[in-house]
Amino acid sequence: MNFTGTENYIATEELQMAVNAAKTLERPLLIKGEPGTGKTMLAEEVAAALNMELIQWHIKSTTRAHQGLYEYDAVSRLRDSQLGSQLGNEEVNDIANYIKKGKLWEAFTSEKQVVLLIDEIDKADIEFPNDLLLELDKMEFFVYETGETIKARHRPIIIITSNNEKELPDAFLRRCFFHYINFPDQKTMAAIINVHYPNIKANLLKEAMDIFFQIRDVPGLKKKPSTSELIDWLKLLLADDIPEDILKGRDHSKAIPPLYGALLKNEQDVHRLEKLAFMLRRES
Ligand SMILES: Nc1ncnc2c1ncn2[C@@H]1O[C@H](COP(=O)(O)OP(=O)(O)O)[C@@H](O)[C@H]1O
Ligand SMILES: [Mg+2]
Repeated sequence: MNFTGTENYIATEELQMAVNAAKTLERPLLIKGEPGTGKTMLAEEVAAALNMELIQWHIKSTTRAHQGLYEYDAVSRLRDSQLGSQLGNEEVNDIANYIKKGKLWEAFTSEKQVVLLIDEIDKADIEFPNDLLLELDKMEFFVYETGETIKARHRPIIIITSNNEKELPDAFLRRCFFHYINFPDQKTMAAIINVHYPNIKANLLKEAMDIFFQIRDVPGLKKKPSTSELIDWLKLLLADDIPEDILKGRDHSKAIPPLYGALLKNEQDVHRLEKLAFMLRRES
C-alpha cells in the first residue's frame, strides 16, 4: 500500500514519493526540515495510513545508541542478590530479568511490521548515528549478557528526523533515503490550515497568511514562525473572533499583529518587526 497523506496530514507529492521509495528500498527515511514542518507528525500519519503500530524513540542529548537495543541493570541485580528481594533466587539468577528492552528490540520483535520513529537524531552525540549503523543495516543485534541474537521478524519502516542542528556522518547518510521538507508554499499552507480549521472564513485565512508570510520574509529574524505557530495563532484569532479587517488595517492602527506572541518567540524579533512597521508607517 502506498502512502498518499491522510485526512489529517497534507503530504506533497515529493514527500509521498520519498516515503514510498524508502519503503520499497527498505531503507530508513531521513526527514529534515525546519522545526514545525510536520516531521514527527509524518511518522504518526504513515503508521496510521498503513495501519501499523508506531514505536517512538525520542532522542535527547544524553541518549546513547545502546539504549535503543537494551540496558542491563547490573546494580539492581547485585542489590537483589545481596540484600534479597521479592524475586526468588531463581529469578535473580536469571539475568534476563534485569535486561530492559529498548525501542529497536521492541520494533524487531513485534508480531506485525511496525513504524519506528527515531525522532530528532541530531540532538544526540555525534557518534550516535554511527553506533546504530550495523543494527539498522542488519536488523539484528547480539545480547552479550544472555547470548541471544535479536533479529527483526519484520523489517520495521524506519523514519528518522533531524532539525539540522548537527551534520550526520556520511556512512549513515549513505544508508538512508533522504527528504527535506521544504517550508510549505502558500497553496500547501492553505491546504494544511484547512485540515485544521475546515470552517475558517476565506478572508481571514488570506489576511492571516499574508501577515504570516510577510513576517517570515522579514530579514534577520532569529526564529521564523513555522506551520505549527501559524496554526496556534489562527486558533487564538478564531477564539477571540478577531475580524479580518483588524488584520487588514493593522499597519495603521497597531505596529504588529494581534497576539503576536504565538508567532514571535523572542524580544529581538518583536523589536525588529516594530521598527519595520514604524518605518513603513512613516513612509506612507
Ligand atoms: N503537512 C501537515 N499537515 C497537517 N498538519 C501539519 C503539517 N505540517 C505541520 N503540521 C502541524 O504542525 C504541527 C507540528 O508538526 P511536528 O510534526 O511536530 O513538526 P516537527 O516535528 O517538524 O517539528 C503538527 O502538530 C500539525 O498540527
Ligand atoms: Mg518533531
